[in-house]
Amino acid sequence: MSEISKIKAREVLDSRGNPTVEVDIITEDGIFRAMTPSGASAGQYEALELRDGDKSRYLGKGTLKAIENVNKKIAPKLIGFDPVAQEAIDNIMLKLDGTENKEKFGANAILPVSMAVTKAGAASKKLGLYQYIGELFGVIPYMLPVPMCNVINGGKHAGQENSIQEHMLMPTGAKNFFEGVRMVSESYHHLAKILKEKFGAGGILIGDEGGFAPVNFVDVSERLDLMLKAVENVGYDGMMHIALDPASSEFFYDGTYKIGKKSYTGGEMVDFYVDLCDKYPIISIEDGLAEDDWDFWVEITKKLGTKIQIVGDDLFVTNTKRIQKGIKLGAANSVLIKLNQIGTVTETLNAIKMAQDQGWTAVVSHRSGETEDSFIADLVVGTSAGQIKTGAPARSDRNAKYNQLLRIEEELAEDAEYPGVDFRIYHLA
Ligand code: PGA
Ligand code: ZN
Repeated sequence: MSEISKIKAREVLDSRGNPTVEVDIITEDGIFRAMTPSGASAGQYEALELRDGDKSRYLGKGTLKAIENVNKKIAPKLIGFDPVAQEAIDNIMLKLDGTENKEKFGANAILPVSMAVTKAGAASKKLGLYQYIGELFGVIPYMLPVPMCNVINGGKHAGQENSIQEHMLMPTGAKNFFEGVRMVSESYHHLAKILKEKFGAGGILIGDEGGFAPVNFVDVSERLDLMLKAVENVGYDGMMHIALDPASSEFFYDGTYKIGKKSYTGGEMVDFYVDLCDKYPIISIEDGLAEDDWDFWVEITKKLGTKIQIVGDDLFVTNTKRIQKGIKLGAANSVLIKLNQIGTVTETLNAIKMAQDQGWTAVVSHRSGETEDSFIADLVVGTSAGQIKTGAPARSDRNAKYNQLLRIEEELAEDAEYPGVDFRIYHLA
């Protein structure tokens, strides 16, 4: 048995240069460190991210209150605990906070403690993090994920308004993760050549998730055409699918969606996606509708749900209550999983389980504001979720996850499964 002897939080920087919370947990096995990420196009139903609001520090984004909550309120209650008691520890923090959306301590205080506890628990059991998460979750064999690689960034991640946020390549035709990463990296570099030729130096500016973000390049068909051209140029025609995350809550105004200069009703948005799916090899659409537009979520799932994956991100916010509602209504067939939307590892695992028990998929995701913590790489393998969103294969905050997955695949050797185009079949009831 191991014991938590110290918990210490500090303020560090995330990939956007904003402050975030890092937590160290000390046990006799060593120091276990976790960092919390931060969203930009965050859903309104997410657990609260506590910011200081003091405009004289980091434009109000300081995290000193959250840090004090860890050091003064959470830490004293967890000293002496065995870190393998993940659920009990998470429940203590939930109880101490006592609010529905973690507004007392902040999810950015609770989550890094929860993640560091998982890392300490793994060490105490002498297991790799993904193996230990597998044990907590109850899934073996392990599956490597198909990456959703965000090669063109739009919307908030690129300083644009009324624009589709994420245009992702999925190497569904790769034989393993190692080859999948190579395919998306090569396609990304071929895309750079095309964009440089078309737009000059401004074509290869990049957004928050490492994808290209050319200025005034907002037409989705044009973006997809260039992505497919890059894939063709590198010789992977037919081996890649496209996933979209419009993050449409960001361009939804009183019942109307606005993309560029065009306006759409909910029904017209659904038709817009049906049309795109006819023209392009799209296999997944996330947040095609806004976070409260349930009726049209049901409609898109009816029209496209047998053909492609319909993923709820802002709609579900990794919250089992909202996922349950979605299941009841038939509002999607997949859940995006972001640890900091809900705030503990236990609740995150429960959300994945709820999705998978329903025959839905779960897509493990980074945030646009990331850190060098690669926890989600282990999470996606430990839960055999089969898909990960972790940006373009560029910038170390994104590549930390790809690189950890490469290490895990190497370690698993023959036992490493890669679902390829069948990533949905694995979890069908
Ligand atoms: P966010 O975006 O991290 O800025 O919220 C990611 C997403 O919408 O999937
Ligand atoms: Zn999203």
